[in-house]
Amino acid sequence: MDYTDPTLLVVDDTEDNLDLLEFAMKRKPIKMLRANSGRQCLEIAQEKNPDVILLDIQMPEMDGFETLMHLRANPVTAKIPVIFLTAQRKDASSIEQGLELGADEYLTKPIDTEELLVRTRMLVRVKRAESELERTKADFMAMLVHDLRSPLNGIKSVIDFFKELRDQGKPFSAEQLGLLDTAGESAKRMLELINDILDLSKFEAGNMSLDKQKIALPIIIDTVVRELSLQFKQKNIEVVKKYGANLPEVVVDAEKVGQVTMNILSNAMKFTKSGGSVTIATSLQVDQPDGVDEKKDVVQVSVTDTGVGIAQEEISQLFERYKQVSSAKRTKQKGTGLGLSICKLIVQAHGGRMSVESEVGKYTTFHFTLPIA
Ligand SMILES: Nc1ncnc2c1ncn2[C@@H]1O[C@H](COP(=O)(O)OP(=O)(O)OP(=O)(O)O)[C@@H](O)[C@H]1O
Ligand SMILES: [Mg+2]
Repeated sequence: MDYTDPTLLVVDDTEDNLDLLEFAMKRKPIKMLRANSGRQCLEIAQEKNPDVILLDIQMPEMDGFETLMHLRANPVTAKIPVIFLTAQRKDASSIEQGLELGADEYLTKPIDTEELLVRTRMLVRVKRAESELERTKADFMAMLVHDLRSPLNGIKSVIDFFKELRDQGKPFSAEQLGLLDTAGESAKRMLELINDILDLSKFEAGNMSLDKQKIALPIIIDTVVRELSLQFKQKNIEVVKKYGANLPEVVVDAEKVGQVTMNILSNAMKFTKSGGSVTIATSLQVDQPDGVDEKKDVVQVSVTDTGVGIAQEEISQLFERYKQVSSAKRTKQKGTGLGLSICKLIVQAHGGRMSVESEVGKYTTFHFTLPIA
């Protein structure tokens, strides 16, 4: 985040008003620029890119409304937050007109400097957070392009290689045919990545449709464990199941809950060394969501690994999109950091909750709850 003092451009045709405000703002953590006409405002805004503009409505020649329209029409100044100033306290029609033209806030004369400061700071905070988000997105795009390009290059070179053999009329050896497996692996990884990204944007747009059914949770978990069993064996990690007795059935989208289980189990496998173990426990719990009186019975799934663990201060970042914390860097594990954010969205869509406990070098447990039938 950028913590420099914000710059405020004040636009007023009365020099006295500008002087007064400048005096009042002298000791405040804010840098003030001045303009005495709409025209001048447009020039300075274009050149100095202020954080916020305070714009008087009543000015000769170009009034505040017209100035605002020009600001918004120019891509360089279009995103600068504007607070406009109306003469009277309850000038409803000009307040409405200003907001409609894209002003972010309004103040009435005489200006209360404290209020101006608060509004300015708030607008600056929002603007800076937005540009940070845009930067994160741009970083992610760069990473994504890179992540997709290298496997694609690999696949292409395998295809080129086989084309050449074909053109020379040579037969394929068993070793050469083995390259197809590598190419297939790469293609699979790319597809998974693309599916994750599509899922996430769909879920975030609120388009997660759940195809719910009544089902015994162990059926879902066992299917996932079976799919991963070869990898667990190859890594020499023991899988322990501790399913609670008489567990009621849950009402869930089995495929999506399978996806959650798959993500959590593959993380547990990724971050546990050979010789370690992963324990999957299910139990009946009473959940009382924050701020709600009513308690409800839920089924809880807990996956505990004996892996590298996660530092306390990093736990709150785990569910952020594209976030990989230091356990990933330490163990040099590849990934996109999308898995857990998708898990959380799916669990929440079911009305459940996700939580984590961990101790570095000892263990990590991910819990999630699901509604019972
Ligand atoms: N069981 C675990 N033990 C230690 N660290 C973990 C564990 N599970 C997740 N993490 C940490 O949380 C981060 C985010 O996990 P997440 O599943 O979202 O992403 P990923 O596994 O890196 O990538 P992806 O799942 O998208 O391929 C991981 O990069 C890792 O740093
Ligand atoms: Mg993962």
